[in-house]
Amino acid sequence: MDNYEDIQRAAAMLRGNFGEAPACALVLGSGLGGFAEELSRPVTLPYGEIPGFPASTAPGHAGRCVAGFVDGVKVLAMQGRFHCYEGGDASRIAFPVRVLRAYGIQALLVTNAAGGVNTDFKPGDFMLIKDHINLSGRNPLVGPNDERIGPRFPDMSKAYDPQLRQLARETADALGISLREGVYAWFLGPAYETPAEIRMARVLGADAVGMSTVPEVIAAVHCGLRVLGISCITNMAAGILDQPITSDEVLEISARRQPDFSALMRAIIARIAAGEGE
Ligand code: HPA
Repeated sequence: MDNYEDIQRAAAMLRGNFGEAPACALVLGSGLGGFAEELSRPVTLPYGEIPGFPASTAPGHAGRCVAGFVDGVKVLAMQGRFHCYEGGDASRIAFPVRVLRAYGIQALLVTNAAGGVNTDFKPGDFMLIKDHINLSGRNPLVGPNDERIGPRFPDMSKAYDPQLRQLARETADALGISLREGVYAWFLGPAYETPAEIRMARVLGADAVGMSTVPEVIAAVHCGLRVLGISCITNMAAGILDQPITSDEVLEISARRQPDFSALMRAIIARIAAGEGE
């Protein structure tokens, strides 16, 4: 369990470095970190300097917070994340999320690179996450619960905020950016899935698979953050095409989709800051 005082201390550090909390924070997934480079008047804080923050070691994950402005709206970008497959307890993933909440963030925009399970999808598509399936056997809330942070048994029936999802759909429509919608299944990784696992995931109702996001979302819902999740489908999941999956391909496709991704994020952030989607 995270120590409540440690969370408050780290939140005070964010406040000291970045000033008053913006309305929303983004977690930028594999290859999508370039969005943080587009922020104007950026202020950067490496995760390593925030006590209690796990460092992120995965390729394509810079491992720092960047606060700045998009079109005059303040936002905090988490450039890179920590994954359960990097080791340690799943509860470590809850810490940064709780710090964001304690800092004063209201909405968390989580993004990731994911494999397409739904055969209607194609690499380069964006998918609005409407729900998830936890196939990892891990949960960041395992252990003693601190009621000051959140309830012992959080309701997950609307984990991905319906109003924010509607806002994202309207925003994508207005920009002419295609936005699929589906269920994200979390596999622990770090090995990519087998074709049999992907067939199983499809039978269970998954549209995309990945190795992240779900533990953050569980921690976010637990501490009362509103969540919006968007996947970039970087490859078809194992066994769909007769070709291997590589992290180079994942990073290449997400980097290629960066311009549309940024445009979508900018517009969503502006609308959230304007009080839409409440
Ligand atoms: N599986 C798991 N994680 C991923 C994939 C995948 O196919 N693509 C990008 N992240």
